[in-house]
Parts: sequence; C-alpha cells; structure tokens
Amino acid sequence: MTPTPIILDCDPGHDDAMAMILAAYNPAINLLGITTVSGNGIINKVTENALRVCALAKINVPVAQGAGASLLGAVEAASDIHGETALDGAPLPAATFALQPGHGVDLIAKLVREHPEKVTLVATGPLTNIALFLKMYPELQDRIEAIVFMGGSAGRGNRTPYAEFNIWMDPEACDVVLKSGLPLTMIGLDVTHQALITKEIFARLEGLNTEIAKTLSGLMRFFAQTYNDVFEMPDPPLHDPIAVAVLIDSTVTKNRFVNVEVELSGLHTRGATVVDIYSRTGGKANVDVALELDFDKFWTMMLDAVEAAGR
Ligand code: BDR
Ligand code: CA
Repeated sequence: MTPTPIILDCDPGHDDAMAMILAAYNPAINLLGITTVSGNGIINKVTENALRVCALAKINVPVAQGAGASLLGAVEAASDIHGETALDGAPLPAATFALQPGHGVDLIAKLVREHPEKVTLVATGPLTNIALFLKMYPELQDRIEAIVFMGGSAGRGNRTPYAEFNIWMDPEACDVVLKSGLPLTMIGLDVTHQALITKEIFARLEGLNTEIAKTLSGLMRFFAQTYNDVFEMPDPPLHDPIAVAVLIDSTVTKNRFVNVEVELSGLHTRGATVVDIYSRTGGKANVDVALELDFDKFWTMMLDAVEAAGR
C-alpha cells in the first residue's frame, strides 16, 4: 500500500513533537512537510521547536512558519502546560536546517499542488493555517483527501470548562473547517484523555535506552508534572499523535459520524465544539468524531516510531 501523504500543521508543544515523530517514522505515512501555527507558544518559539525536534529526531522535510495570531488576531500561549519555551523539560539540539522562505500556508499550497496524489492535512494546533489555506486557495480544495484535527470535545473542555485549547484559540478557523464540506475527523479530548502516559508507558519509553528516548522522557516528565499541577491528572494525555495514528490504522479509534458545530459567541462557552452524538438537532453529519481509543495499539505504534527514530 502506498503511504498516506500528509502535511502536519502543529504548534510544538510536547505532544506535537511526538506527533512529528510518529508521522516521520511510521512507514504508512509520507510526511511531505511541517507548518507551524501559534498556539502552545508564540509563533517564533513553536517554529524554533519544530526545527529542533527535526534535529533531535533526524526528520528532514520542509518546515515553514505559519500564522502568528488567530483569524481575529488573538495570541495566547499554554505556558502553564508546556513551559516558557513551549517545549520545556529537556535540552534540544540546535536546528540543522533553515526554514522554508514564505508563509506556512503557501508551503501547504505548494506541497498540495505538486503532489501527484490527494493530500491529507493533519492539524495538531489551532486551525488558523488550515482555514487560511481553504480561503486563499479554494482551487486546491479538491486536492485535499481529508482533514484530521486534534481539538474539541464532546464533553468538557480543558482551556475553559467547555472549550478545548486548540479550538478555543481560534473558533472562527474551526468554523471554516467544519463548513468546508471536506471529510473531517475530530480527535477530541474524549479520545485523547485515553492516551495516558502511564507508569508502564514511561517504563517502555525509558527501556528503549536511546538518546532520543531519554530526551523524550525528560520532556514527557515535565508535561506529566504540569498536567498533575493544573488538572490533577497523574498520568498526562498524549493528545496530538492520535491524529496521525488514525491514518496509520483506522481501527485505533472508534468513531461516530455526526454533526459538529462550534460555539462562536457563547457567554461562557466560546470555542466549545457542540457534538450532536444522538443526532438530536437534525444537523447534517459533517465530522467523524473519535470517541474510543485502542490503548495498546496506539502505544505500540507510538513507541515503535520512537524506537525507529533512535536507530
Ligand atoms: C491540545 O492543546 C495543546 O496544548 C496540545 O498540544 C494539544 O494539541 C490539547 O488540548
Ligand atoms: Ca498541539
């Protein structure tokens, strides 16, 4: 089977870094390029992190910097979770190659235009770049196979009581994506909170005994500490790589195809995804929403990729 061509749009970020490694080291994925978006940190921090993770994991694909603010101009950071650098916890090597010139959205367009097959967009940060791409390059929309995004929730949020961080950062961008008519898969907190880095997972990661596994363990231990401090979760959830994992093996999650809208003006709920699990609104189904995770399958895939990156 030919590997699935993807572009990863991300805001590294601890779990974004792991998504990069899974995308680069699983043979079922053809990682065409990486674009960055402001989210876990301001744009130049997350871009620097993307380049450093490439150096750490010997990932060699074009990387371009994307949007530095949401569609409405908001800039925030998740330093309570990811630290001051947006990727605290272990020293990372310096970048080994330069950024692509130009905006990330233009790199997405170039890669999509030049690739012979349809391309899947995987978003693990706010959806700003993806929305800009859809609006700026409507002629390329039929070159997109699907969009898989980590964000949202069918239940509670994590940035506000009802809004998940990525969607809360740029609800208008999420609205553009939800209304695009493209095949969409949502990897929300419902499923990502099942991808816990348990003690056994830490032991398997550290048991790989490679330099990269040691560095990743340092990063994940930082992430575990902030998750415990902020959310009282002793085992932190590794959200973002699930958005790659579902393209490697669709049976890694169980999904429901339902209507999803995003709250743009709620008094307390701006950025909440409204997921019509029981089809009560009559709204047209537009999103395949992942709800259950095959924990063992996911972690075997993730740790195999870390092992391959260490060879
Ligand atoms: C999402 O927010 C970020 O902090 C993580 O990288 C993930 O993409 C989880 O809500
Ligand atoms: Ca992220």
